[in-house]
Parts: sequence; C-alpha cells; structure tokens
Amino acid sequence: MTGVIETDSLTRSFGDRLAVDRLDLRAEAGDIFGLLGPNGAGKTTTIRMLTTLLTPSSGAARICGFDVSREPGAVRRRIGYVMQSVPWQVNRLLRAREIVEIEAALHHVPQRVRRERVDEALDLLGLLPHADRLIGEFSGGMHKRLDLACGLLHRPELLVLDEPTLGLDVQSRHRIWDYILGLRDEGVTVLLATNYLDEADRLCNRLTIMDNGRSVVSGSPVELKHAVAADVIQVATSSPERLRDAIAHEPWVKNTILTDSNEVHIYVKDASQALPAVMSLSLANDLGLERVTYTQPSLDDVFLLHTGRELRDLEVGA
Ligand SMILES: Nc1ncnc2c1ncn2[C@@H]1O[C@H](COP(=O)(O)OP(=O)(O)OP(=O)(O)O)[C@@H](O)[C@H]1O
Ligand SMILES: [Mg+2]
Repeated sequence: MTGVIETDSLTRSFGDRLAVDRLDLRAEAGDIFGLLGPNGAGKTTTIRMLTTLLTPSSGAARICGFDVSREPGAVRRRIGYVMQSVPWQVNRLLRAREIVEIEAALHHVPQRVRRERVDEALDLLGLLPHADRLIGEFSGGMHKRLDLACGLLHRPELLVLDEPTLGLDVQSRHRIWDYILGLRDEGVTVLLATNYLDEADRLCNRLTIMDNGRSVVSGSPVELKHAVAADVIQVATSSPERLRDAIAHEPWVKNTILTDSNEVHIYVKDASQALPAVMSLSLANDLGLERVTYTQPSLDDVFLLHTGRELRDLEVGA
C-alpha cells in the first residue's frame, strides 16, 4: 500500500551545512505522525521539502504517491500547511475574518460551506470575538491561532503543522490538541513537527525523533518508551559520576545516563527492586544522596538515551 508520506534518503544541505541527512520517513493514512526534535534539528527543512517549497539536494519524497520534485502540483492539491511563522505584516490592515475568507477562497473551499467553515475555524481557535479586529492589533498568540484557523479550512488529505502550539497558553494548546485528534477521526493524516515532548506523546501514534538532520529513532511513543526500560530512577547526588561507576556493573541496571543537570538516570526493569540496592550502594560509598525519585521513562528519556542530551534543556536554552 502507498503511504501518505514516503521519503527515501531525503537530504538537503545549505552550503556545507547538512540540514537534513538521508531521512527515511513513512506515514500511513490516518496517522498523526510526529517529527520531534530540538531547535535546528531539521524539522522545518524536511517539511518545506515535503510541501514542495524547497528542492531536495538528493533522495526522494512522495506524498500520497506523488513525487514532490516531479509532481509538485498534485502534491500541493493534497496538503494543507500551517507554517511555523507567517509574514502577516503584509496584511496588517485586514480584519481577521477577511484573512480567513481569503484563505478559504484560495483553497477552493466551496462557496456554500465557506461562511460556515470560516466561523467554525475562528470559533475553534477562540477568535470569533476578535473576527472584526485588524490583525495589526493582534498579539503573537492570536497570530498563531489565526495561522492555524487558515490551515484548517479545507479538509486536505495531509495536514502539515509546523509547531502549531509554539508559545501558546495551556488552554489554547489543549483546544488545538483536541481539534487535531478530531481531524484524525475524520480521516485526515497529520504531520506534526514539534519540540514539545508532551505534545508528541499525547497526539502522535508514530514519530521520528530528529537531531542534527538525522533520524535518531522511530516508533510509537509507547514502543519507544518501553524500549528504554520499564522504570527510570532519577538520583540527585553530590557525586553523580561516582554513583554511576558504583552501579555500572550491577545486573539490574539496563543503562545509566548522567544528565546535563547532573542527575543520574538509572534505567531498570523494576524500580521497587532496584531502589533498595541504589540506596545501600550509595550509603556504602558515601555518595551524598540529595533526592531519589522513580517514574516511567518519558520521551525525554528516549531522546536522552539516543543523543546523550536532554531535549528539555535544549528548549530552555533556545
Ligand atoms: N535557508 C537556509 N539557509 C541556511 N541554513 C538554513 C536555512 N534553513 C535552515 N537552515 C539550517 O538548517 C538547520 C535546520 O533548520 P530547521 O529550520 O529545519 O530546524 P527546525 O528543526 O525546524 O528548528 P526549530 O525547532 O527551531 O524550528 C539549521 O542548522 C538551520 O540553521
Ligand atoms: Mg522549525
């Protein structure tokens, strides 16, 4: 069966910088497919190639079976694209409703449902009360919601969302998430680029983690987390290296990582059995424990184990 997104060693460089490096992706109809990665990972560059806005340096990509380089028109007719940032400044003197109506017309939303779709999109993003305001007066968050309203007007086979909730408040994010899940139920395939772990975890049934232009690992969030370990014990101590060395060869340790925040993460099959051992080894070696917690691995642990860095920290630094 033809996938909705299929890429084969997709590559793009800018000068000597490899922004996307031999990427193989595959998304099926009905997927909410995630590209998760830190700033500069290559998500937007990938999306720009998939939406025919940027030519690949090498490799190939097909959307709904159409080649992005050879059949760009056919690809464009099947996709909706909400960009990471849109230069609305050019239209500052338009009202929100006018922008959405223009978009609806550009996307050939049939006249008879246009008014309804425009209202629905504005309402969904909480913009109906502001529909008649000039967008030059809009805040950053309102612009973002307006971008989204525009991308949701027609019902494309593939909806591409580049960081749709970046910088939005929690309430708006949750509304958008619910809407994306609703679109899936209507049979729309979604490609979602994000650097929010919770967003990828909550929405995507399949995702590829990207770092430095490369695919680090792919799978469903559950698969990826299970592959890490059943439990992760997080230890804050004054001597993280010594703790790591002390437990390195214990049979119950699946993996250990020293995080950028100087915590030791110990990946184990069963934390309730491993915890007493961590405590007694720490006491025996006088390791000065400050805090010990345990939980199930998150996508952050998946990223950490595969790249040696924390996605969360990279976000904060951005
Ligand atoms: N037009 C361009 N010219 C030169 N370099 C570029 C260009 N576009 C992207 N890059 C570089 O390619 C790399 C990938 O950038 P990209 O925008 O795809 O990352 P991203 O994952 O979308 O990041 P973010 O989360 O910040 O949006 C970066 O190193 C970036 O500087
Ligand atoms: Mg981007």
